[in-house]
Amino acid sequence: MISSKHTIAVVGATGAVGREALAILESRNVPPARLRVTASDRSVGKTIEYAGQKLALVASTPESIRGCDAALFCVSSEVAKRLAPECVKVGCTVVDNSSAFRADPAVPLVVPEVNASELASLSRPCLVANPNCSTILLVVALNPIRRRFGLKRIVVSTYQAVSGAGAAAMDELRQQAADVLAGKPAQPKVFAEPCAFNIFSHNSKVDLDSGLNGEEAKMITESRRIWADKSIEISPTCVRVPVLRAHAEAATITLDKPASEAEVRAAFADAPGVRLVDDRANNSFPTSLKASGGDDILVGRLRIDPTAPREADGRSRHHCVLLSGDQLRKGAALNAIQIADALLR
Ligand SMILES: NC(=O)c1ccc[n+]([C@@H]2O[C@H](COP(=O)([O-])OP(=O)(O)OC[C@H]3O[C@@H](n4cnc5c(N)ncnc54)[C@H](OP(=O)(O)O)[C@@H]3O)[C@@H](O)[C@H]2O)c1
Repeated sequence: MISSKHTIAVVGATGAVGREALAILESRNVPPARLRVTASDRSVGKTIEYAGQKLALVASTPESIRGCDAALFCVSSEVAKRLAPECVKVGCTVVDNSSAFRADPAVPLVVPEVNASELASLSRPCLVANPNCSTILLVVALNPIRRRFGLKRIVVSTYQAVSGAGAAAMDELRQQAADVLAGKPAQPKVFAEPCAFNIFSHNSKVDLDSGLNGEEAKMITESRRIWADKSIEISPTCVRVPVLRAHAEAATITLDKPASEAEVRAAFADAPGVRLVDDRANNSFPTSLKASGGDDILVGRLRIDPTAPREADGRSRHHCVLLSGDQLRKGAALNAIQIADALLR
């Protein structure tokens, strides 16, 4: 567990994930003297607020990280690929939020609620990869179902917040919303499409042969890796929506064993990291705003797929689920901190 005796580096502290990591560490009373905050050379000499103090931003180099027990990497894949192994060499354990090492079989890809056992055999310093944000939300939410009934197939559509593309994308949504409401045209910079008052296919690169975009491909390969199950069928469609933070996902799932709606609800009810928000009478279900700033993945709109066959007792293998989770927290900063907690225990 990260404690006041550990020194922690937040690499990329000025970004959307880095700032969230600092907010979580602050809420746990990690003293400012135990933090090192780094960013690009552009930010060196500037400061960042933490617990009422101004922390000096330093360059992201192995030397500035030397002496830290763990570094939470909140930078691009390109930077992580270059810097993370160097930081491990100077004795610092790295938890990397980027996609740089997620496909590397030598680097564990961990969601503590699902495969914390991967961390048990590691000796420090080491490098651990934090999975893709949409993937973390999906595997945490569906893990209790997979454990009780088995999961054969997931057809999932995502509704992804713009903050998944970083701090600049959040600024872009705020600016475009103001511009459009003032009667001015939206001016896209981070995204190719306007993001205010618009929905568009995820901005990651589309594979010309499969037609899958990068986010969809990650959901398939990373979920299979985390669950250690290559047979699970996953068909995602990933879309950006004009929301600042907290992705939502609507999934239709096929179970190995038939289950009643009540059994599925009960499986979600006592799952770690999951909170049921499923009030049909009041039409109250998970939303991005309800999930924003929270640690739990909200799950609701549970129902048997109306097109699916039912057994004589009403059970079915096909269920529908809506989930929402703050991808800056559980999809990135919080998951990374939970990994560091386990490694520093
Ligand atoms: N946003 C999400 O929901 C999310 C979820 C899961 C994973 N991730 C991954 O987490 C990482 C960070 O994402 P983000 O959304 O926080 O991005 P972001 O808001 O764009 O922040 C990027 C950070 O990287 C720093 N940086 C840029 N160039 C650098 C360089 N050459 N050397 C060192 N630092 C540099 C920036 O510092 P300056 O301010 O100085 O430019 C900033 O602190 C990415 O790999 C992303 O894919 C993000």
